Amino acid sequence: MNFDNSDDFEIVNPDPGALIESLRAFGYSLEASIADIIDNSIVAGACNIHIQFSWQGEQSTIAILDDGCGMTEDKLNNAMRPGSRNPLEERDTADLGRFGLGLKTASFSQCRKLTVGSKTTGDDLKIRSWDLDYVNQCGEWRLRKLEPRECDSAFSALEKRKNGTLVLWEQIDRLVKGAEKDDLKREGLFYEHIDTVKSHLSMVFHRFLENQNSLKIFINNRQIPAWDPFLRKHPSTQLLPEEPLHHSGKKITIRPFVLPHRSKMNDGTYEIAGGPGGWNARQGFYIYRNNRLIVAGDWLGLGFRKEAHTKLARVLVDIPNSMDEDWKIDVKKSVARPPAHLRDDFKRIARLTIERATAVYRHRGKIVQRKTADNFVFPWNTNVKNGTYFYTVNRSHPLVAAVIDNSDGNRKKTEAMLRLIEETVPLPTIILNNSDNPDKLYRPFEKSPSNELLVVMKEIWLSMTRSGMSENEAGKRLAQMEPFCDYPEYLPAFFESVEENE
Ligand SMILES: Nc1ncnc2c1ncn2[C@@H]1O[C@H](COP(=O)(O)OP(=O)(O)OP(=O)(O)O)[C@@H](O)[C@H]1O
Ligand SMILES: [Mg+2]
Repeated sequence: MNFDNSDDFEIVNPDPGALIESLRAFGYSLEASIADIIDNSIVAGACNIHIQFSWQGEQSTIAILDDGCGMTEDKLNNAMRPGSRNPLEERDTADLGRFGLGLKTASFSQCRKLTVGSKTTGDDLKIRSWDLDYVNQCGEWRLRKLEPRECDSAFSALEKRKNGTLVLWEQIDRLVKGAEKDDLKREGLFYEHIDTVKSHLSMVFHRFLENQNSLKIFINNRQIPAWDPFLRKHPSTQLLPEEPLHHSGKKITIRPFVLPHRSKMNDGTYEIAGGPGGWNARQGFYIYRNNRLIVAGDWLGLGFRKEAHTKLARVLVDIPNSMDEDWKIDVKKSVARPPAHLRDDFKRIARLTIERATAVYRHRGKIVQRKTADNFVFPWNTNVKNGTYFYTVNRSHPLVAAVIDNSDGNRKKTEAMLRLIEETVPLPTIILNNSDNPDKLYRPFEKSPSNELLVVMKEIWLSMTRSGMSENEAGKRLAQMEPFCDYPEYLPAFFESVEENE
């Protein structure tokens, strides 16, 4: 088709004021916006990124400074253009960008004034600025050229460096609109955002941050740590077999993980391992595009729900940036959906991981096992009468049986004491106190020193051996008895001490 004749077309340029306001409505959160700016710094080879929150009431600012390669004047002009690069263009295999929009959409979603200064080695600092009110007023895409002296002092600092880029957000109306400088409450709220940003960046860029030589990120001069969703350093984390899948000749790698049961972690580790939003929210697939986390725990619309008993399931997926279209990657880099013909594989892998994770959540299937295994010894019996549960002390437990047998004249008292304990188990209080946080249930002997555990173990051992059981058999039974089965590490020490005493 040829439209060379000017009678055949009209030129209808987008209205800058209207378009710029629409560019503000991509729905970025603050943390996702900052992550988008950091993507660019990483691609520019930055090793150190400093994020600075500065409170000045309505004039508060957020600045992101990197020591990457920087941009020449031409490159900077182009970088500031909404749509600086065609998304269909092939990108370098390590590039984190796609749409030529992130710098602008992420910034405009937070501020009305975006100023970028950049310096390449051997060149002068160049500064460009979009002031949305000014663009609105003049109705033209006028990108302002500024000198360092006209700008925040941070630009003068950049001028002295060899290379790097500074992104400055002013008039951050979405965060500080109408705030007075001396409003302490608003100031507190402003700085509270640092925590959310910190945990998001620790998660999204954890693979880069794990290698301290490759990237360090600081917020108001405090370095942020890496957050590993898979707790790979924990000895009880289960790594299921890795599976490569292929789509249009490109490779995706999937590695399912089942995280350790709550009882294997101390409170601090458990809290941190839950991650932003907590354990329930963070189960599912973790999709990495060029090592950058895009989706942090989601069942990808495959029909699985985020249930408490499946929360230990986390599945790592690595995809290359050449599959952006197949995975429907969005500008914010927060959405990814598996291509239709991979969905069944993803479902199968999710099901397998969920099965394993559920077993670990339920004490590695021990509860199921206990109902059927005759030789498993419980201190408590669970009984049901007319649909109501009640709990009784197991009279045939070796220790209980030994105490009853040796009670002599006190047999009635011992029996009465057991009945009293059984009848007054504080069930309502237990339910109330633990219903909000079933994972924090007290673990037997959790707070006791190991010798207390060994003392109880020894008494039970003696009860068994004195009743005529062989030592070998007594040892086996101890290993299958609550709560010692949860502390296998103490058994060898116990048997050694028994041998020494003999
Ligand atoms: N900190 C930086 N250092 C060096 N170059 C940068 C920096 N920030 C942006 N650029 C340049 O500006 C360009 C535009 O960035 P922008 O984030 O708008 O789009 P993109 O990264 O290409 O794609 P996407 O929209 O997917 O993020 C980048 O491709 C890069 O060339
Ligand atoms: Mg980008």
